Amino acid sequence: MREFWIKDPSYANEGRKKLEWAEGQMKVLMKIRERFQKDKPLKNQKISACLHITKETGVLLKTLMEGGAQVSLCPSNPLSTQDDVAAALVEEGIKVYGFRGLTAKEYYECIGYALLHKPTITMDDGADLVSTLHKLAYGIRGVDTEYVKGILGNFDERLINGIIGGTEETTTGVIRLKALERKGMLKYPVIAVNDAKSKNLFDNPIGTGQSAIDGILRATNVLFAGKDVVIVGFGQVGSGIAERARGLGAKVTIVEVDPIKALKAVMYGFNVDTLSRAAEYGDIFITATGNINVIRGEHFEKMKDGAILANAGHMDVEISKRDLEILAKEKVEVSKLMTLFRMRDGRKIYLLGDGRLVNLVCAEGHPSEVMDLSFSLQALCVEFIAKNKDKLEKKVLIVPEDIDREVARLKLDTMNITIEELTEEQKRYLNEWQVGT
Ligand SMILES: NC(=O)c1ccc[n+]([C@@H]2O[C@H](COP(=O)([O-])OP(=O)(O)OC[C@H]3O[C@@H](n4cnc5c(N)ncnc54)[C@H](O)[C@@H]3O)[C@@H](O)[C@H]2O)c1
Repeated sequence: MREFWIKDPSYANEGRKKLEWAEGQMKVLMKIRERFQKDKPLKNQKISACLHITKETGVLLKTLMEGGAQVSLCPSNPLSTQDDVAAALVEEGIKVYGFRGLTAKEYYECIGYALLHKPTITMDDGADLVSTLHKLAYGIRGVDTEYVKGILGNFDERLINGIIGGTEETTTGVIRLKALERKGMLKYPVIAVNDAKSKNLFDNPIGTGQSAIDGILRATNVLFAGKDVVIVGFGQVGSGIAERARGLGAKVTIVEVDPIKALKAVMYGFNVDTLSRAAEYGDIFITATGNINVIRGEHFEKMKDGAILANAGHMDVEISKRDLEILAKEKVEVSKLMTLFRMRDGRKIYLLGDGRLVNLVCAEGHPSEVMDLSFSLQALCVEFIAKNKDKLEKKVLIVPEDIDREVARLKLDTMNITIEELTEEQKRYLNEWQVGT
């Protein structure tokens, strides 16, 4: 078996420096690491993680190793790997399979290599590993499963039966897992880390809010002030990006399908419109819906010369690349981060990061301090799975409330912030039903 498959092991020195920087920012996770070093709660566990290969993921996986686990890693996106970090993690003893710029075949081969390590616990960001594994278990054939089988060989049931649980990092992954659960096909419990409050109140709006704009700036250096920025999807991610774009002086328009979210956007002072109309005046379009073909041919036809398109949703299906290819007479790679589509009438439309997660492809993903919360939850959830392996139902599970609150409490501690405590009288009052007006 390959020990690793990365761009270049000689990049390790650069990667090590980045890991050290991130460790300095991820204080909660480092506290958890200290405890894991002593208690070894993950002894005998083998973890296969399908996560963006970034310095923050590196800090998480080093923590899991300190807890006693053996760890293999493949990326959750073909373009998000930081090759220097991958090299440093190989030096740390993690079996890393992935580099920036994977083809679809190579992407699934990386999943195959990670699975060759016969995990007892899986970690996903978008559910590609879990869904591939389930397709193999149910004999559902596809190009992806054929690529994985090319590495794994014939599927052995013992692979999936040996898994005690998994975790899922993002909204799109949770949606896919719930679909699997609804069909009665989920073969092991998976904790929806995305749905924890200390994840989705911070990572999705605040992390993506900053890092998606960072990605757009690194790719274009465009001025936001005075621009018409159209955000499609006003959920956790879209609402965060909208606030940050407004903070930079942009005129922000929201496109939504959910009347409650649309009304919320109105009440927060944003312009709300249909995409068909906004297509005519938008300068920058950012998708954050988790949905397919949200911006498509009929919208490209109406866009201004110089319109910029970026996606912050998990998959590269939100902006129809197929329609862009059909409508354009020429496609030019302006830089590694930006492609120009020249329309037949001469208008130019720019697509950033190949329509993939703009914050990870064009920048470095979320700031480490935000990932400190999400990945501390991940570490504690993995520990929870190891401790409770015989008690968990084969369902999509919520993060235990005490873990969620503990992560927030530890984060406040590391920020030297003390919060108010309820008095005994207040506790009693909040449990009363007899006291009225
Ligand atoms: N870039 C990142 O680092 C990052 C971080 C977290 C989540 N994500 C991904 O971002 C996506 C959104 O996540 P979220 O947590 O905001 O989900 P969410 O469910 O909170 O929000 C999605 C919103 O999009 C709206 N929507 C759906 N289809 C639409 C359409 N056709 N037009 C307009 N609006 C539409 C929904 O009504 C909803 O309000 C997911 O794919 C998630 O996995 C990315």
